Amino acid sequence: MTRRAVVAGTGHYLPERVVENAEFEATLDTTDEWIRSRSGIERRHFAAEGETTSDMAAKAAERALADAGLTVDDVDAIVVATSTPDLTFPSAATMVQSKLGMTKGFAFDVQAVCAGFVYALSNASALIASGQADRVMVIGAETFSRIMDWTDRSTCVLFGDGAGALLLEAQEQPGTNKDRGILATDLNSDGRYKDLLYVDGGVSTQSTGHLRMQGNQVFRHAVEKLASTANTALDRAGLSAGDVDWIVPHQANIRIIQGTAKKMGLSMDNVVVTVQDHGNTSAASIPLALSVGKERGQIKEGDLIVTEAIGGGLAWGAVVLRW
Ligand code: UT7
Repeated sequence: MTRRAVVAGTGHYLPERVVENAEFEATLDTTDEWIRSRSGIERRHFAAEGETTSDMAAKAAERALADAGLTVDDVDAIVVATSTPDLTFPSAATMVQSKLGMTKGFAFDVQAVCAGFVYALSNASALIASGQADRVMVIGAETFSRIMDWTDRSTCVLFGDGAGALLLEAQEQPGTNKDRGILATDLNSDGRYKDLLYVDGGVSTQSTGHLRMQGNQVFRHAVEKLASTANTALDRAGLSAGDVDWIVPHQANIRIIQGTAKKMGLSMDNVVVTVQDHGNTSAASIPLALSVGKERGQIKEGDLIVTEAIGGGLAWGAVVLRW
């Protein structure tokens, strides 16, 4: 038997304020048509004034607990993937811990930008497999609206805010690739590409900074690296693209999502797409898509899922799991 990290519950939270593409036409030299055709984005949610990453993360986590029929006392650890924590420290994860009323266990953040949730899932799976935790709440939460340069039309129309959560729990499974739970992961980064997507500020440079991106360069890397990491993770699990029920990709651009599916030889009928409604929510995009995909009735128990993401670093990776 093998100890696997199995999804016991999901939840998500989106801030109330919805911003349609057309709103940007008033302040920027852009159009709804450009944004829609180049990125697939139609709208995104922005956090309210004073609403923080840990507020959204805690709401998503509460919903995942309710979905699993468990309480915070059943959780051993919280891992939050974010690049936009409330404060420099403590971690957003400890703030979530406090908001949930959890006084035991441990909590920490993972920072791998848009690949953050894939990194967090991989870490949580290792914590469970090694026996360090029985139940881990894995959350992706971001308030990218706080690091936008609102005069830069090439970036500010692309991102949104939100949070998604997966409650993982240890289950003894037979130890084959038919098991439920996380079956394989693949993580990568290459800091030579740090200038393609970054924030031009931070603690040791004494500013908050704004997101800067050479979008077309990131695009070029994305399709190739995403298909490759997804296939590597599938290979590690002894599976191939033909076994996949759902690709649940990072939601940055519909053209990247389509290109990756095509490269993997899969149809868009096998892809959960939320980019039109959420924009790019960085580390929150995959758990949001998993939670929404389940709510829509797309993702069902037993389905084989591959998640993949790429972002600042560059950092990228994939996780193969059976729901
Ligand atoms: O989540 C982290 C990973 N990030 C990504 O995966 C994002 C990857 N990149 C992309 O999604 C796409 O590259 C973008 C959506 C960012 C841009 O699409 P593109 O087809 O690569 O366009 P481009 O950057 O090559 O720009 C084409 C033109 C440029 O004008 P010129 O130089 O051809 O005259 C831009 O100035 O579009 C212009 N442009 C805009 N026009 C209207 C850029 N932003 C806008 C805008 N409205 N908002």
